[in-house]
Amino acid sequence: MASTALLLLALSSFPSLTVAVLFGEPRIYGEDATGYGPIFEEEPVDVVYIEDSPDGRISMNCRARANPPATYRWRRDNWEIKLKEQPDEHYSLVGGNLVITNPIQKKHAGTYVCVARNIYGTVISKEARVKFGFLGEFPDEEREPVYVKEGQGAVLLCVPPKAWPQEVTYRWIYNEFPVFLNTDRRRFVSQKTGNLYIAKVEAQDAGNYSCFVSSPVLGKSVFSKFIPLIPLPPDDGEERKYPADIRVKFPDTTAMLASNITLECFALGNPIPHIVWRKVDATDLPANHEISESGAVLHLFNVQYEDVGFYDCEAINTKGKDWHKAWLYVESAPEWAETINNTMKDIGSEHTMRCVASGKPFPFIRWYKDGYMLGFTVYGKGELKFSSLTFADSGMYQCIAENYWGIKYANAELRVIACAPTFEFNPVKKQLLGAKDGRVVIECKPRAAPRPRFTWTKGKELLYNSSRISIMFDGSLEILNATKNDEGVYTCFAENDRGKANSSGYLTITEATSITVAPEDTEVRVGDEVILKCQASYDPMLDITFIWAIDFRVIDFNAEWQQYERVMVGLNEDGVGDLRILNAQIWHEGRYTCTAQTVVDSDTAYCDLKIVGVPGPPGVIRVEEIADTWVKLWWTKGAEHNSPILYYTIQTRHYWALYEDDWRNATPTVLDGSMEKAEVTDLYPWMEYQFRIIATNEHGSGEASIPSLKIKTWDAPPVVSPTNLAGYGGRNGEIIITWTPVEPWYFYGKKFGYIVAFKPHDAYDWWYETISDPETRRHVHRDTYFIPTEEDFQVREFQVKIKSFNVKGDGPYTLTKVIYYPRDGLCPPLKLWFGGCQWLTLEQAYNSILRDTRYRTAERLDSCINNQLNRGPFHNNPISCHLGQILEKI
Ligand SMILES: *[C@@H]1O[C@H](CO)[C@@H](O)[C@H](O)[C@H]1NC(C)=O
Ligand SMILES: *[C@@H]1O[C@H](CO)[C@@H](O)[C@H](O)[C@H]1NC(C)=O
Ligand SMILES: *[C@@H]1O[C@H](CO)[C@@H](O)[C@H](O)[C@H]1NC(C)=O
Ligand SMILES: *[C@@H]1O[C@H](CO)[C@@H](O)[C@H](O)[C@H]1NC(C)=O
Ligand SMILES: *[C@@H]1O[C@H](CO)[C@@H](O)[C@H](O)[C@H]1NC(C)=O
Ligand SMILES: *[C@@H]1O[C@H](CO)[C@@H](O)[C@H](O)[C@H]1NC(C)=O
Repeated sequence: MASTALLLLALSSFPSLTVAVLFGEPRIYGEDATGYGPIFEEEPVDVVYIEDSPDGRISMNCRARANPPATYRWRRDNWEIKLKEQPDEHYSLVGGNLVITNPIQKKHAGTYVCVARNIYGTVISKEARVKFGFLGEFPDEEREPVYVKEGQGAVLLCVPPKAWPQEVTYRWIYNEFPVFLNTDRRRFVSQKTGNLYIAKVEAQDAGNYSCFVSSPVLGKSVFSKFIPLIPLPPDDGEERKYPADIRVKFPDTTAMLASNITLECFALGNPIPHIVWRKVDATDLPANHEISESGAVLHLFNVQYEDVGFYDCEAINTKGKDWHKAWLYVESAPEWAETINNTMKDIGSEHTMRCVASGKPFPFIRWYKDGYMLGFTVYGKGELKFSSLTFADSGMYQCIAENYWGIKYANAELRVIACAPTFEFNPVKKQLLGAKDGRVVIECKPRAAPRPRFTWTKGKELLYNSSRISIMFDGSLEILNATKNDEGVYTCFAENDRGKANSSGYLTITEATSITVAPEDTEVRVGDEVILKCQASYDPMLDITFIWAIDFRVIDFNAEWQQYERVMVGLNEDGVGDLRILNAQIWHEGRYTCTAQTVVDSDTAYCDLKIVGVPGPPGVIRVEEIADTWVKLWWTKGAEHNSPILYYTIQTRHYWALYEDDWRNATPTVLDGSMEKAEVTDLYPWMEYQFRIIATNEHGSGEASIPSLKIKTWDAPPVVSPTNLAGYGGRNGEIIITWTPVEPWYFYGKKFGYIVAFKPHDAYDWWYETISDPETRRHVHRDTYFIPTEEDFQVREFQVKIKSFNVKGDGPYTLTKVIYYPRDGLCPPLKLWFGGCQWLTLEQAYNSILRDTRYRTAERLDSCINNQLNRGPFHNNPISCHLGQILEKI
């Protein structure tokens, strides 16, 4: 066989003459030979032949794509039909199709397969059954009449003749053809048995009944002898009632996945029973269901695995109920999980073909080679193993998965190829480079089948395995610790039983690439510029590139130009590959690896870069406990950024903050860096607050944490009273008390207001006045008791004080303040003041005012002067220039 030629390839681009070998007989195709084994395009299907059909013939189709074209044969019941050897008047072959003329049941019914074959192998088609359709006649015997009491149930048996195909439909003729009985709640025809069920017989049912069987495939019907049904009047003239009695009981049923099935259930009884369907242990029937025949038939469409279970039908009437249940099983036809494909393999190599099919029950798997069975395995999985392929293993393989529900074919061609070694597609590289002291591998990958033996020469010298040199399994030559002496011409020789070939290249040993300046571990601050050094020596013949990686991710200087750049160097400063990080950030931290690389070899070095900076923001800040003036806070530590946290600062922002960034340091101001909780004090009660926290390390303060949720401190009695309490009296008995209201953050609670207290100097009791609007700044009290009489030009003194209150309680009173009454009468007459703008006059005036006991205090006088000043016209009056001097004197 070795003398017959060679190659068997389907590679279309193969430029040389292609020669195919099968079972030792060589065939030669053209340059672009693309021969292949048969692939079915049409396969025979089951046929039901109807005797006496006008055609008088059966045609079973078979067509395969193949190059060269396939020849066809047929088998019947596994027996080859010898069409050529023993011509038969019934059989003829038209293309691949088998035509049977005037078929005879005995000779021609059976299972047929088409066998297609060319030089690459043989495949068998799916099996196709030829069956002769028939529908038998009912027997000639007369049928017994059926006597039933009115109100009782009745069953008329059909007892149909045999038929093929088995799918037939049943109806009943009533009295005469073509009058068919209508089914309804009372009358039901089982499509499984053909029997007619009448739930309760009525007088009008009297008549002759015949079971009518039709085969839709054959287009033929037959009917039985008539059965007379004779209803008898009830015993005492009145129908009796009977409880429901199920007579049509669907059996345990196995359905094929995705098929449609029908379950029948019908009950006799008087009154006519009502039928209810259920799936046991399920709330509903499957979605794809339909109930027909007045409830007697349950159809399930597109049955799925989840539809498996007990189905229950219940028949109920007023006399009683009956029930029936049976299992529905779901199974499925085989499906491929893994199958075989066309494969080309070297002669002598190992090979495994695998077919895996799913299906329920588990499919059997059979293997065929070139139309003959090799064996079978069960449980859905099959393998064919070849330890060393030979040409005889070439051919068409089929694996067939079959279970009760179906059959699945997978076909593939295995082509075992052989060729003499050739370097045509993959020669040894002409120019080889190896680094000094390095490992050099010279590849030798010819195409060859079977695997060739490899030998190597250097110049004229044959090479053997040694401590430094070895010929590897795949044919490559490996040289360790290369030196200048290893330079030279290397030739790989490959030889198998088909022939031999060689291919050479020249090996040059270059200086090793070596990093001379390695990057050093570095620590920098955020924002700094960093330069990591990397310089290398290398063979001047070669080009060098520097590759940088951070934590083993290679830096792409084009994409990441904003962060990294190569340090530019002068033209003659070759071998420098420094890396610059423009603006060091925390995420730049990591291990930097510099690789100096030439086409021949490389060297690497690494350093660790540490970035220090201000801490990151602390984590979630939570308010754990709330009181009136303090809260307890918890937070989690943020990133230290390589420098321990020295302290934390807590800040607050409250409801009255003026702008969004109005954060103020809280008390305590500074917290030890090891803390993760704190009590913040000196808060305003009844105030909405948010908190945030800032960590500080040696390098400064970091970003603040995200603010906490808003909380409100508890309320408390106020402590701040209004300020600038003042007042005066009027001539008409008014007393006016003024103050500056309390700022809202001092309210400390709901219902904030003031209580003003006042009394004449010499009185014992205080008058109280409650002010509920916290923005009020004056209170006017009018009392006839205070109206001064003309005689009573005496100055009165009043005492006033004020305090705050809220829902929680009262704050402290201010100090008592004295106000005077009436005010108008208190100031000296104008003429005294402004008799003229003369120093003396004024001084005298002043002195005389002071001597007047009514004015009593210098403070009072002061107030009078101010009052006068504020009255306006005096601003521009020359008198004003002297007022300052007057005041200085007081
Ligand atoms: C039933 O058939 C019998 C005899 O075949 C016939 O005498 C009778 O009249 C038929 N009954 C009806 C209702 O057609
Ligand atoms: C099931 O019934 C549906 C609806 O009648 C029909 O379209 C479908 O072809 C049927 N499927 C099978 C497998 O008979
Ligand atoms: C066979 O071919 C199909 C489709 O081309 C592919 O999905 C499958 O993985 C192949 N099987 C094997 C064993 O190569
Ligand atoms: C190659 O060199 C390495 C060190 O450079 C040495 O350990 C090893 O033994 C050498 N191998 C041979 C085969 O000389
Ligand atoms: C040389 O050694 C390699 C393993 O290092 C082995 O696979 C190969 O068969 C050996 N070749 C010869 C010619 O001994
Ligand atoms: C190497 O192959 C060439 C053809 O490619 C052939 O002419 C030559 O004789 C071969 N050398 C040896 C030593 O076999």
